[in-house]
Amino acid sequence: MPSQKTSPISDEEDQLFRLLRHLDMAPDASQRTISSAIGVSLGRLNAQLRSASEAGFIKVSQRAGPDKRQRFAYALTTRGAAEKIRLTDQFLAAKFLEYQMLHAELTGIRPGLTPLSDRTTFMQNNLAPISELYVSSDSAQKLKVEAADLVSWDLTPRQICDLELLMNGGFAPLKGFLTEADYDGVVENMRTADGTLWPMPITLDVSEEFASKLEEGQDIALRDQEGVILATMTVTDNWTPNKSKEAEKVFGADDEAHPAVHYLHNTAGNVYLGGPVTGIQTPMHYDFRARRDTPNELRAFFRKMGWRKVVAFQTRNPLHRAHQELTFRAAREAQANLLIHPVVGMTKPGDVDHFTRVRCYEAVLDKYPASTTTMSLLPLAMRMAGPREAVWHGLIRKNYGVTHFIVGRDHAGPGSNSAGEDFYGPYDAQELFKEHEEEMGIEMVPFKHMVYVEERAQYEPNDEIEDKDNVTILNISGTELRRRLAEGLEIPEWFSFPEVVAELRKTKPPRAKQGFTVFLTGFSGSGKSTIANAVMVKLMEMGGRPVTLLDGDIVRKNLSSELGFSKEHRDLNIQRIGYVASEITKNGGIAICAPIAPYAATRRIVREGIEQYGAFVEVHVATSIEECERRDRKGLYKLAREGKIKEFTGISDPYDVPKNPELSIDTEGTDVDNCAHQVILKLESLGLINGN
Ligand code: PPS
Repeated sequence: MPSQKTSPISDEEDQLFRLLRHLDMAPDASQRTISSAIGVSLGRLNAQLRSASEAGFIKVSQRAGPDKRQRFAYALTTRGAAEKIRLTDQFLAAKFLEYQMLHAELTGIRPGLTPLSDRTTFMQNNLAPISELYVSSDSAQKLKVEAADLVSWDLTPRQICDLELLMNGGFAPLKGFLTEADYDGVVENMRTADGTLWPMPITLDVSEEFASKLEEGQDIALRDQEGVILATMTVTDNWTPNKSKEAEKVFGADDEAHPAVHYLHNTAGNVYLGGPVTGIQTPMHYDFRARRDTPNELRAFFRKMGWRKVVAFQTRNPLHRAHQELTFRAAREAQANLLIHPVVGMTKPGDVDHFTRVRCYEAVLDKYPASTTTMSLLPLAMRMAGPREAVWHGLIRKNYGVTHFIVGRDHAGPGSNSAGEDFYGPYDAQELFKEHEEEMGIEMVPFKHMVYVEERAQYEPNDEIEDKDNVTILNISGTELRRRLAEGLEIPEWFSFPEVVAELRKTKPPRAKQGFTVFLTGFSGSGKSTIANAVMVKLMEMGGRPVTLLDGDIVRKNLSSELGFSKEHRDLNIQRIGYVASEITKNGGIAICAPIAPYAATRRIVREGIEQYGAFVEVHVATSIEECERRDRKGLYKLAREGKIKEFTGISDPYDVPKNPELSIDTEGTDVDNCAHQVILKLESLGLINGN
């Protein structure tokens, strides 16, 4: 967390800082080189090295070689790197104080004791470099070798996004994953323990098993999904959070219809770790590299271009004409340059993938004047937290050197809650931003809902149109756009640019040509497999797309033979099925799955995975447990009643009845052909097959 220490630097701290800085730049330097570089005698250096080593800031190792005067090699430890970052901050603050005094002397204006936050605000204007958590590349090489011996945590995709922004200064002033005290403050009142405004918990969630192996103060290595070490972290805090409270306070409700609340309860680990992070290397991105910038790279670009005022536009959707108009107006209003700053980390499940979006943005960029507009990609994992998210976005953009930020209607809105109402009011985000604007040091450019006025052939803010009764107002909602794309219908030029529509059509062919998944769920013996087989044959008869059947029994034999029927194993089984089905769907095929899949939360995870690529059609084969038991085709119910099979769904294990399946089939008194036909009719009504 940011240091509040503003007292002048003591000699000791000054010496320590010089030593750590030198060892960061030149690990393994000899005593002679260090002493001449930092300007102390060899004797004094020896004392310093001893105390730094005792404090755990440096590591001393034996050096092979004939020269007796160079018997030892010295390198920075993780803790030393963190201390160096802390001292750097302290130095900057002290230097700024000196600067202020000088300024006061020259101008006659008494500075008084301005709080540190104001002073750092001034320092962090869009021209000054911002501090990062990375060590020098030489130290990184060394730390990487040392970190190989540390306990490792394999980061989730969301944690990788968070870590990248922690390390590159995008989340400044955070210096690591939140500690418990900071987390409590952030959840409760959007402030870390020292009072710094920060609305979003940036937490390292891990499993209970992993957390239980750690000791306080232990260093761990943070690796990406290929095992590459990105950073180390000193674990100062290890606690079990109250997730329901976090959901209520941060997202406004403990309602799993909210994607971040769903993530919190179903994907995030149950224990959080907190502590400072030492950056070793940035996560690798192979896509759109020229379009990715760190805060310092963007700041340098603004400096080079002489852009003093920059207004940023945050987006997770393709840009259409309304957005272009809105951004033009914002830049005009703020008399600023424009930064299109789309999120390419994680957005809302079901959004257009970022590859397509970036191609769309590139097409639209040609419509902006190159001398005043630029685009850069932000590897942020969004939480869709509406008002809090808007403040968070503002703070991040501030770190990227931006002076103004556009907040539109329903900024980062997650859609409706489980009662069908919006989680947040359309202008809640603007209000919260306004409340904190001054403290944040970034100005909001608020925008209302833009609509197209046909008679004037232009976009205007909806609530500024005074002659509403005499003009034709046109608007195409996101849902309507998706419908038109899905059905291959016309998308008018007043709405979007032909290049953007062409890109979207390439990725989203009409539904009848897309891949999809039919997911039958129900008790054992309910008829899932029989119906699934009949549906498969009917679809194969129609032709056009390859069809794969992932039946419960087949999967257990070929994919999940080692699994049993505990909740954990069932979830794993269903997630494997979901993964295979999502790959089939992505590649334009039809997957028919027929497992019991008793848990609603797991079915939802599978749905989200698949809906990125195509439709997910949940079919509840709603045969009652009594009827399944009466049929008892495999004789399993009898064994379950006798206690010979444990954890048997419907008898001794739960089944969450689907709340909103696309189709529910009552098999009692209905033959298989008719049941399969109901599925086919449903697919036809959803536009997934065209019935020819
Ligand atoms: S799950 O929960 O979705 O992973 O189950 P699934 O893989 O679909 O189960 C496949 C078949 O396993 C048989 N079986 C059991 N079912 C439920 N509970 C217990 N304990 C159990 N033990 C074995 C059962 O016949 C399932 O077959 P279906 O095709 O559903 O009749």
